[in-house]
Amino acid sequence: MKKVIFLGVFFLFFSCENTQKLAYKLFLEEDLLKRPKSKRCADCHQNIYNQWKNSRHSVSWVSDDFKKSSNRYSKIKCLSCHAPLEIEPLKEPKLRDFHREEGINCVSCHFKEKTNSMHGPYEVFSPPHYSTKDPNYTKSKICAGCHRETYKQWKTANTQKNCQNCHMPSKKDNLIQKFPFYLLHKKKEVHNHSSPPLIASKEDIKLKIKVLKDEIKVLIKNTGIPHKLPTADQGKPKLYIKAEFFLNGEKVDEDSNMITHKQGIEYNKEKEFTFYSFENFDLVKISVSRKLSWKKKAEPITSISLDIEK
Ligand code: HEC
Ligand code: HEC
Ligand code: HEC
Ligand code: HEC
Ligand code: HEC
Repeated sequence: MKKVIFLGVFFLFFSCENTQKLAYKLFLEEDLLKRPKSKRCADCHQNIYNQWKNSRHSVSWVSDDFKKSSNRYSKIKCLSCHAPLEIEPLKEPKLRDFHREEGINCVSCHFKEKTNSMHGPYEVFSPPHYSTKDPNYTKSKICAGCHRETYKQWKTANTQKNCQNCHMPSKKDNLIQKFPFYLLHKKKEVHNHSSPPLIASKEDIKLKIKVLKDEIKVLIKNTGIPHKLPTADQGKPKLYIKAEFFLNGEKVDEDSNMITHKQGIEYNKEKEFTFYSFENFDLVKISVSRKLSWKKKAEPITSISLDIEK
């Protein structure tokens, strides 16, 4: 009970503007504004930290793929987006020269030297560090300095949904978990910082089959994903389309096509693929799968089968 009264008084006290200024004087933790490691942010932002730890952003410097393809960090032009100092909408970031092993960490995305504060989507009361509400954080262009190609593709798709809507889904929660301070703040939409790998659903892809003599034409339309399928700037994701031919229930032949991000299927566009079989067949099954560039295995997306009457 005492705790509740104390918090009530505390809250009332700090809800007026002048006393808020006093709170920043009393509770400011200077080291937070000197680009600390992400673990330091976890003292309060525990949940977001755990998500980030699980994200590709946190391994962008140390992943085996990057080590190898950057020639053990000797290709200078490769480094900036994988260990940035600060991010700017639409602009390639500058490389930082400390804590590089953390890749794209909390402060690289949130701290700005110019305002000496954490930029984010909200107007907040955050006494341990200064904060600045910055409308860019709720727009796709905050991702665009690094995801350049994908952003260009998204732009031409002309959709209302931004990158965060799909890749950082949100739910109402506390921004901080530190007791008792989280009780002083209203819950807000908290965005998933793990950028969980998404996969297209059946509804995102329309498949049509046309049967000619000994070939099959498959039309694939990307109706759901407002960038190429697959999309990438530097990674090597793949989309596979496989045709399996059957006769009397037994597989007699197969043929497949691979699509790289260079040939990716644009939003609301259709692409045609041709598959051949030199065997007789009475059924064909088309299946689509994709492989993320950092995964070993492909994962299925959708498939259809068609009986053939010849
Ligand atoms: C001692 C506690 C504490 C630590 C440590 C801390 N923060 Fe915060 N932070 C807060 C509080 C309190 C808020 C406001 C919470 C609210 O309004 O729900 C906040 C809000 C934020 C916001 C939202 C800003 C906005 O305008 O939308 C960002 C971004 C942020 N912090 C980043 C960081 C980063 C990056 C670190 C590590 C360098 C960090 N914080 C460390 C307490 C902390
Ligand atoms: C303009 C920013 C930028 C620069 C410069 C950059 N990258 Fe990347 N890199 C990205 C982004 C964004 C991704 C995320 C996946 C994707 O879209 O390809 C990525 C992903 C990767 C991946 C895939 C990681 C994985 O886990 O599969 C590799 C490998 C990679 N980059 C290597 C390089 C190399 C080598 C260079 C230099 C030739 C380079 N990058 C330069 C932005 C950049
Ligand atoms: C500072 C550059 C940078 C910024 C800004 C950035 N990213 Fe990334 N992103 C990368 C790099 C580099 C990778 C690849 C890391 C790896 O796999 O090693 C990546 C990976 C990803 C992946 C996983 C890709 C995969 O192959 O699985 C997603 C999804 C993603 N980013 C979404 C976003 C979104 C959404 C935003 C904006 C809110 C954003 N990124 C902002 C550089 C950036
Ligand atoms: C309508 C939702 C939606 C929007 C908006 C969107 N994406 Fe995606 N994105 C997806 C889906 C679904 C996939 C998975 C495609 C697949 O099956 O490979 C994906 C794949 C990706 C990938 C490949 C790695 C992965 O996680 O599969 C990257 C990188 C990416 N998107 C970045 C972006 C960026 C950057 C933006 C904004 C410019 C953006 N996306 C906007 C839905 C979306
Ligand atoms: C790739 C860039 C990126 C990285 C890395 C990143 N953030 Fe964020 N963060 C964002 C964006 C973009 C938003 C706003 C999303 C929106 O409102 O659409 C955000 C929002 C927030 C917020 C406000 C609450 C919310 O989820 O909207 C806090 C607090 C925050 N981040 C803290 C952190 C902390 C702590 C870390 C490190 C553990 C971190 N961020 C790492 C880009 C990033």
